Amino acid sequence: MAVGLFDSGLGGLTVYKAVAQRLPDVPIVYLGDNAHTPYGVRDFDEIYELTTKGVSRLFQAGCDLAVLACNTASSAALRRIQEDWVPPDKRVLGVFVPLIEALTERQWGDNSPPREVELKNVALFATPATVRSRAFQRELAFRAIGVDVETQACAGVVDAIEEGDLILAGALVRSHVEALRRKMPKPEAAVLGCTHYPIVEEEFRAALGPDVKVYSQPALVADSLADYLERHPEMRGTGETPMFLTTGDPQRVTDQATRFLRRKTEFHAA
Ligand code: DGL
Repeated sequence: MAVGLFDSGLGGLTVYKAVAQRLPDVPIVYLGDNAHTPYGVRDFDEIYELTTKGVSRLFQAGCDLAVLACNTASSAALRRIQEDWVPPDKRVLGVFVPLIEALTERQWGDNSPPREVELKNVALFATPATVRSRAFQRELAFRAIGVDVETQACAGVVDAIEEGDLILAGALVRSHVEALRRKMPKPEAAVLGCTHYPIVEEEFRAALGPDVKVYSQPALVADSLADYLERHPEMRGTGETPMFLTTGDPQRVTDQATRFLRRKTEFHAA
């Protein structure tokens, strides 16, 4: 029954936490590619290679469905993975679409033509690779018209979180929000387009102020996954053992994850 979750590092644990709450009976195999984090500064081919390697490991662990709990992998590699790589009996899903459906007030799978939505000015905070891919704007354009998107590539934030330096991460968030405001002074909504950012969500909210609606992915992705598994029960894999795997140093990642999830979270070598 296992479902796989993949991220470049610790960020996907924000999605893990929401999924584990929403679907307590589904064993989750989590793989963090901590040895190669951050992905956001890599080129698309590298991200594709690393992501397919990680997803293969999840398939090996008994998962038939892997969710890329990573916007960078979703935006730089998912399309190519779905078109050229994934075996017919497996599925790989990303985290972008549930977020955009929420933003454009759509139900899952509503493929009607793009229409005008309430939001007009949206700020996207994401990694440099996600911003460069323009995947967010592309997915949004399939569903909505007349939305102005201003992006801010948040260099350094993922590195600081992976290093466990949340003070530095918070300072970087404030400076990225200021930089965004110079380009778009009054965003109505802000999208936290990287699964690491919910770890510093309070800093984003404080810097953006109460008038900006913040869209954060974990709960949206968990709902969408629950819905998907209801419609595709056959995609629950054969694996029965929940596992946390890392390509990095298991002890170090265990310590960081345990701090973040506030319960012992034992990582093993992938
Ligand atoms: N959590 C990944 C994302 O959602 C992290 C990116 C990175 O490794 O730079 O984009």
